[in-house]
Amino acid sequence: MKNAGIMIVDDVPLNTTIARAHLASEGYRNIITETDSTKVLSLLYQKDPDLLLLDIMMPEVSGLDILEVVRGDRHFAHLPVLILTATTDRDLKIQALELGATDFLNKPIDAQDMIPRVRNALLVKSHQDHLEAMVRARTCELEHAQKEVVYCLARAAEYRDNDTGHHVIRVSRYVALIARKLGLDEQTVDMMSQASMLHDMGKIGIPDSVLHKPGRLNDQDRDLMRRHCEFGFDICMHAGDTKTADADILGSFGQQLLEGCSSPLLQMAASIAATHHEKWDGTGYPRGLAGESIPLEGRITAVADVFDALSSKRPYKEAFPLNRCIAILQDGRGTHFDPHLLDLFLDSMDEVRAIRGEFDR
Ligand SMILES: [Fe+2]
Ligand SMILES: [Fe+2]
Repeated sequence: MKNAGIMIVDDVPLNTTIARAHLASEGYRNIITETDSTKVLSLLYQKDPDLLLLDIMMPEVSGLDILEVVRGDRHFAHLPVLILTATTDRDLKIQALELGATDFLNKPIDAQDMIPRVRNALLVKSHQDHLEAMVRARTCELEHAQKEVVYCLARAAEYRDNDTGHHVIRVSRYVALIARKLGLDEQTVDMMSQASMLHDMGKIGIPDSVLHKPGRLNDQDRDLMRRHCEFGFDICMHAGDTKTADADILGSFGQQLLEGCSSPLLQMAASIAATHHEKWDGTGYPRGLAGESIPLEGRITAVADVFDALSSKRPYKEAFPLNRCIAILQDGRGTHFDPHLLDLFLDSMDEVRAIRGEFDR
């Protein structure tokens, strides 16, 4: 606690000197003082203190101005601000409270009045910092667990295809590559990339006799095979379906969790499962959607999935050389694929080669 950073701001040097002396005599070691209020904001960002003692009446930039900026910045949301005030002006205090002041210290500063307030404010701040660190760590763990579960599910879906699991990883990397080039924000890129791993989830619902049938599929088999889009959509979309859950086992809390569990990630996975075989010109399946009525995530995954199927070895074919893959994709520009997305992908061959090199089986 004694190492906590305390910043004292007052335009009268004597006041900062007195406050510093009180704190120093209590053993606080990390004290910063500033008498020029125009420098306070940059100093705050630079020093990132744990507590701010702030005078209100200062020339140029007032304490209230500073307080307003501080509270407007999420980074300083929990920074305790003790207002130093000589005035008994009630309105000013109310204004300061409304702007988010934590507490007040009367000037001239009295050590007995000051030290317990400083300690209390620092205590709350350290609890908050601790809680935030815990939330960050837990969120990180959850995100990691979610990624692993998504990957497991994706592998489960591809397992019968004798796949090493690298197909879904490569597809997800290509999807991230295109989404990033398109300028989507990192959170969306990450979600789309994860969701794309589940594009063929619905193959779980295809019988081995069809999935592993040697030679050409007849019309009936092909129709069934094409239903993997619908099955995948169904599996992801109804993950939160309470009707399938046993209410007695789950109890009301479990029910609530289930109700809220068609998460944005699964909704996106459902959308990708349903639309990754649609084509830009409307000749794809299952619904024959065309152009931008195919969701963006489906259009992006289509490019990634087809490229990976062409460029990797499958039980029924060798890996095609890169220039042949590119030629085939280019052939589908504006018919199979969204032309803009395809261009973004084809302009990124260095990155594509790196991804292939990393997951080459
Ligand atoms: Fe598929
Ligand atoms: Fe695939």
